[in-house]
Amino acid sequence: MKKRVGILLVFALLFIGFLANWTYSYYQGLEEAYIPIHEASDILVIPSEKKVFERSGYALDYLNMPVDENHQRTLDTYYNNRAYPGAPPSIPHPVKEKLGMGSNICLQCHQNGGFVEKFNAYAPVTPHPEMINCKQCHVEQQTKSTFVATNFYKKPAPEVGVNNALPGSPPAIPHQLQMRENCLSCHAGPAAVKELWIDHPERINCRQCHVPKAQEVQNVELFVRANTNLK
Ligand code: HEC
Ligand code: HEC
Ligand code: HEC
Ligand code: HEC
Repeated sequence: MKKRVGILLVFALLFIGFLANWTYSYYQGLEEAYIPIHEASDILVIPSEKKVFERSGYALDYLNMPVDENHQRTLDTYYNNRAYPGAPPSIPHPVKEKLGMGSNICLQCHQNGGFVEKFNAYAPVTPHPEMINCKQCHVEQQTKSTFVATNFYKKPAPEVGVNNALPGSPPAIPHQLQMRENCLSCHAGPAAVKELWIDHPERINCRQCHVPKAQEVQNVELFVRANTNLK
C-alpha cells in the first residue's frame, strides 16, 4: 500500500512539474515579438550632426503654418540685439526676478515658441533648451548706449543671399556651427527672421545639401606673456 502511494506521488509530482513547465513556456510565447536589432539610441550618428534632427518632429507642422507677416522679425532687429554676430542676445523684455537660474520658466515660452500677447511678438525658439541656466549668458537690457566712448566695433555679419555657387543651388552655411547645430530653431516657424525663413523645413537633413562655407582661417600668433619678472 505504501509503495503505491509512493508511485502515485511521484507521478503527481511529475504531472505538476509538466504543468508548471508548460504554462511557463506558453506565457513566454505570448510575450511581445522580439527581434534582436539595436534600439534607435544605439544607432551611430555623427555626434556633431545629431542636433540637426532635434526639431525635425515638427517639420511638417512648420511647413503647414501660415506666415504671419505682421509679426515677422527682420535681420536688422536680430543683429541689433546682439553685441556682435553670434553673441548671446540680450533679453528685450521685462523679466521677473524669480525667473531666475536653473528653472524652466524661460522655456515655457522659448522651448517651442508661440505668440505672446503681452509682448506682441512670437517667442524665438531657443536652439539650446538643455542649457537651463539661461541668465548665465542672457542678460536684461539696462541701457541702449555705452557710458563712455570705446573703440569696440561690431564685426560685420556674414552676408545673406550670396552664398550659393549658382543661382538656385543650396547656399553654403556662412556661419559657424557651434551652438547653431539645431537649424530649424532659427530657420523655421513664425519667430524665424524673415530673410532666413525657409520654405523647406520638411527636408530635415539640412547638412545633406548645405555645407559649411570654406573660409580662410588665419593662424593667431603664439601668445607670449610679457612678464619679464618671472624667469
Ligand atoms: C511670457 C513668455 C516669455 C517668457 C516667460 C520669457 N520670454 Fe524671452 N521672449 C519672449 C518673446 C515674445 C520674445 C520676443 C520679443 C520681441 O521680439 O520683442 C522674447 C525674446 C527673448 C530674447 C531675444 C531673442 C533674440 O533673438 O533677440 C531672449 C534672449 C530671451 N527672450 C530670453 C529669455 C529668458 C532668459 C527668459 C527667462 C528669464 C525669458 N526670455 C522668458 C517671451 C518670453
Ligand atoms: C552658454 C551660454 C548660453 C546659455 C546658458 C543660454 N544661451 Fe541662449 N544663446 C547663447 C548664444 C551665444 C546665442 C546666439 C547664438 C547665435 O546667434 O549663434 C543664443 C541665442 C538664444 C536665442 C535666440 C534664438 C533666435 O532665433 O534668435 C534665444 C531665444 C535663447 N538663446 C534663449 C535661451 C534660453 C531660454 C536659455 C535657457 C534655457 C538660454 N538661451 C541659455 C548662449 C546661451
Ligand atoms: C542661432 C540661430 C541659427 C541657427 C541655429 C542656424 N542658423 Fe543658419 N543663419 C543664421 C543667421 C543669423 C544667418 C545670417 C548670416 C549670419 O548672421 O551668420 C544664417 C544664415 C544661413 C544660411 C545662408 C542663407 C543665405 O541666403 O545666404 C544658410 C544656408 C544657413 N544659415 C543654414 C543653416 C543650417 C544648415 C543650420 C543647421 C546646421 C543653421 N543654419 C543653423 C542663424 C542660425
Ligand atoms: C535637398 C537639398 C536641401 C536640403 C536637404 C535642405 N535645403 Fe535649404 N536650400 C536648398 C536649395 C536648393 C536652396 C536654394 C533655393 C533657391 O535659391 O531658390 C536652399 C535654400 C536655403 C536657405 C536660403 C534661404 C532660402 O529659403 O532661399 C536656407 C537658410 C536654407 N536653405 C536652410 C535649410 C535648412 C535649415 C534645412 C534643413 C531643414 C535645409 N535648408 C535643407 C536645398 C536644400
